[in-house]
Amino acid sequence: MSKITVLGSGGWGIALSLLLLNNDNDVTVWSAFEDEIETLKANRETRLLPGVKIDDRINLTNSLDSVAESDVVVFAVPSFAIRQTAQRIKNLVNKDTVIVNVSKGVEDGTLLTLADVIKSEIPDNRIVVLSGPSHAEEVARGMATSLVAAADDKDAAMLIQDLFMNSFFRVYINDDITGVELGGALKNIIALATGICDGLGLGDNVRAALMTRGLTEMARLGVAMGAHYRTFAGLTGLGDLIVTCTSKHSRNRRFGALVGSGVDPETALKEVGMTVEGYHATKTAVLLAKKFGVEMPITEECYSILYEGASVQTSLERLMKRPKCDESEDMWL
Ligand SMILES: NC(=O)c1ccc[n+]([C@@H]2O[C@H](COP(=O)([O-])OP(=O)(O)OC[C@H]3O[C@@H](n4cnc5c(N)ncnc54)[C@H](O)[C@@H]3O)[C@@H](O)[C@H]2O)c1
Repeated sequence: MSKITVLGSGGWGIALSLLLLNNDNDVTVWSAFEDEIETLKANRETRLLPGVKIDDRINLTNSLDSVAESDVVVFAVPSFAIRQTAQRIKNLVNKDTVIVNVSKGVEDGTLLTLADVIKSEIPDNRIVVLSGPSHAEEVARGMATSLVAAADDKDAAMLIQDLFMNSFFRVYINDDITGVELGGALKNIIALATGICDGLGLGDNVRAALMTRGLTEMARLGVAMGAHYRTFAGLTGLGDLIVTCTSKHSRNRRFGALVGSGVDPETALKEVGMTVEGYHATKTAVLLAKKFGVEMPITEECYSILYEGASVQTSLERLMKRPKCDESEDMWL
């Protein structure tokens, strides 16, 4: 039995806590917000996962006391809160504790991947990224799911593989931590783009085109940043892209659909009411594309719509009228 602290009591934090409890671990879930924890304690249920009981054996708290005794600490807060959460635990966490990041994004400002943000605050601990096609709504209900545990340190990746794996949760390992993180962060932008087209009432053809060309630009940036192209053909690239662009559970797609139907982005964010990582990732990806000198036309049009008030029709037209090119020239495989 391992002692585990999960930082973040949103949908993903709770779903993974249930999984870890199911695998016979001692699990504590922390939230920065006292009212959030009090509501969870009172109801033993979250509005994000209706009908899913939070087992009484899961310790819910807004104290960070359990961090010092934990074998594993899981970061399940949104990307914008990763650094401040790492700063809160850096003097509490034991050097042998393995840190797992399950959040998906790139830090605004520094443009660091989230594992690098954690590493910059807590440099001595081993870090594993756990990512892939996974909706909390399904994991919390024990529905079959496959993910990837990525780390520079193979032993740490295997430890996390063992800790999370069970009959409905399969975990692969990978040493391309940058590729795994970028796949999870960038697919949210493409999901948002497919949502915009759904909101406009466009069809299946455009969704398939956005997913395929979106994957190409995700891989183009990833390879420029040192990731391996084949990671983008795996669970954390193609796999996560498929689930996010086609599922009813995807909040990024839902957010995009609201924008596509004419709702302004700020109102759409409020309406979704949960972390919409694609909104933040669009901004950071545009800056990364500039920094690494790669073209990301779909991402750039999402940026124009979300941050510069461009009309969706104009953006679509610009994408369709890009200079003619040969598909094989910039294929990543
Ligand atoms: N929900 C999923 O299915 C799923 C699956 C895979 C990955 N993820 C990723 O996991 C991360 C969390 O997603 P979620 O669905 O649990 O989000 P959520 O919106 O349901 O919950 C976010 C949690 O973070 C906390 N939080 C918000 N601001 C904070 C702050 N400033 N400091 C500390 N904590 C703060 C909230 O209190 C809440 O407990 C995101 O990066 C998301 O992309 C989610």
